[in-house]
Amino acid sequence: MAMDRYVITGKQRLEGKIRVSGAKNSSLPLLAAAILGEGTSTLLEIPDLVDITHMVEVLEHLGCGVVRQGKTMQINAGGLESCEVDEALMRQMRASNLILGPLLARFGRVKISRPGGCAIGSRPMDQHIKGLEQLGVKVREKHGYIEAWTDHLQGADVYLDVPSVGATENIMMAAVLAKGVTVIRNAAREPEIVDLQNFLNKMGAKVRGSGLDAIRIDGVEKLHPAEHIVIPDRIEAGTHMIAAVMTQGDVVIENVIPEHLEPVIAKISQAGARVTLMDDSIRVQQRGRIRSVDLKTMPYPGFPTDMQPQFMAMLSCAEGTSIITETIFENRFQHVDELRRMGAKITVEGRTAIIRGVQTLEGAFVEATDLRAGAALFLAALAAEEVTVLEKVNYIDRGYENLEEKYRQLGAKLLRIHQEG
Ligand code: UD1
Repeated sequence: MAMDRYVITGKQRLEGKIRVSGAKNSSLPLLAAAILGEGTSTLLEIPDLVDITHMVEVLEHLGCGVVRQGKTMQINAGGLESCEVDEALMRQMRASNLILGPLLARFGRVKISRPGGCAIGSRPMDQHIKGLEQLGVKVREKHGYIEAWTDHLQGADVYLDVPSVGATENIMMAAVLAKGVTVIRNAAREPEIVDLQNFLNKMGAKVRGSGLDAIRIDGVEKLHPAEHIVIPDRIEAGTHMIAAVMTQGDVVIENVIPEHLEPVIAKISQAGARVTLMDDSIRVQQRGRIRSVDLKTMPYPGFPTDMQPQFMAMLSCAEGTSIITETIFENRFQHVDELRRMGAKITVEGRTAIIRGVQTLEGAFVEATDLRAGAALFLAALAAEEVTVLEKVNYIDRGYENLEEKYRQLGAKLLRIHQEG
């Protein structure tokens, strides 16, 4: 894949308005859920991201018709014919495993290539599989494939050992068409799960309790297509908030649901930012030195792991020492070496990083290793002295729509250089 780079001139104060796109992590399960409706569902505010394109390719491969017009996507699952996805397609994106639940619900059969690990950790599927087995699914793993089948799905009490987002979504999408009642205990509570519940209920499902730690699903016979607007991306919003802080800026972030950002707002306020909440926007202002804060990543409503690298970039130039503990993914400190190249003083001990704030970061040649690590380096570059060349920005494209354009409007100085081959 051709990899592009950004050339960023730092220390430009960001000012103005920026609009957040629809949530990637909601769009992916919602697209998978569209499989459940026998007809054409419409999803609005779907961001234009590579991961979305990959999910659409998976749906098309299964026989769905997908039409995109701007941010609106129509998914016709009436002609669904296949329940197998091969390795090439699965490898493009882990989240394609979200078709397991809906395909079992509609066909009682599915075969997918097992998703591999990724840069941030090993990412097992045991909770997805255990939960589906409790609904009466047989699962066989062979030659790198996961094959699952069932005569009929039977509601059950499912307890998750860890509140996995993907497992909660898969089990929920299978259980909506199961016979009887399913309760998912120790379920993930992320806003994206609530969004999925809302869409499923519009399709005629009976799901209650998401956002709390037990979700109850009363199985129904059939689901019909529906229309739904994707929630705004809280991680994108959080990233912009940090950009405002790191550039001593004044930025209004539009299209947000402030409650979804509580842990992020709490931490940047502690760091000294002035945060003003409005109905569906947040204004972030920063003057003077950022203060150090400690944080620990936790399942929602705790501090999101997907914001950890960006916070580390911010705390790299705070006054004093901060401690970050990563409890969700075992290998999510890949941005540390790159931040060090920019002058950050960070030591890692197992799952803990100790960040000694420096006066200022310095421009350097750095490389994105995954989506959020890339976002962290992007932010660091905005705050750094002189010029940063950020390589492999295509990783950043997986989660941020129109980043250059959005930031240019805020006053950032950046250039994207397209590379061939
Ligand atoms: C989702 C998000 C991702 C985010 C992550 C955690 C999407 C598309 N992606 O990923 O951006 O970083 O939540 O907030 O929504 N685990 C198991 N067994 C399993 C499944 C997970 O042990 O069967 C563990 C994982 O190793 C990890 C933790 O559970 O330590 C959380 O993973 P999970 O919530 O499943 O993440 P994803 O749904 O893959």
